[in-house]
Amino acid sequence: MTIPDQPTRRLLATALTLGLAGAVPAQAADPVDQKLQEYRQAAQTFGKTLKGELQAAMKQGGPMAAVSVCNQRAPEIAARLSEETGFTLRRTSLKPRATPPSDWERAVLEDFEARRADGEPPKSIEWHEVATVDGEERLRYMKAIGTQEVCLTCHGSNIDPALEAKIKKLYPEDQATGFEKGDIRGAFSITAPLGG
Ligand code: HEC
Repeated sequence: MTIPDQPTRRLLATALTLGLAGAVPAQAADPVDQKLQEYRQAAQTFGKTLKGELQAAMKQGGPMAAVSVCNQRAPEIAARLSEETGFTLRRTSLKPRATPPSDWERAVLEDFEARRADGEPPKSIEWHEVATVDGEERLRYMKAIGTQEVCLTCHGSNIDPALEAKIKKLYPEDQATGFEKGDIRGAFSITAPLGG
């Protein structure tokens, strides 16, 4: 093998640098990856905001007061974030209290249960697809929500009777009880046009 002389080496190095510089922006601009980052951020903001308000309300007025926070603030926070981001953002579950899943959401939630049964921890379980809806490409995203200790007060098996009565009054069709720590309580679901 012959070792290239100095000018040839410099030429090769320049060609390599230019080649790499050309390749990098094309990768970073992938529209699905970019939008997924925004979705993950929105889901995180939704979860954190709600949990913060829930914990504050539990501390201040106990679970009876906190039910009202979930009842009023969850839909409000979802609506505000949807407005700010332009995404359609919500929570859903196979055993819903307020927001039953659509057909495709149900299929994804069932897949999440299978992944959980295979040992995947809820916090790393997510999914996405690009679907054509009415001729428009939309990016659909779901992220599992795990059940923590604090959730059992209102979603567990031994719910205080007065609290249970209040929940039943607000949600006569409630199915969201009997959960255990580590179960998948539900999922964030986010959709938006891919191009917009
Ligand atoms: C003080 C009672 C209370 C506690 C504690 C609570 N929730 Fe809920 N949860 C509710 C109520 C009420 C709703 C219905 C809210 C609505 O109208 O969107 C709800 C709805 C949900 C939903 C939406 C899907 C569905 O079933 O309709 C998810 C997901 C959820 N809760 C997860 C959790 C998680 C995770 C925790 C713990 C971090 C938690 N909840 C703690 C009362 C509670």
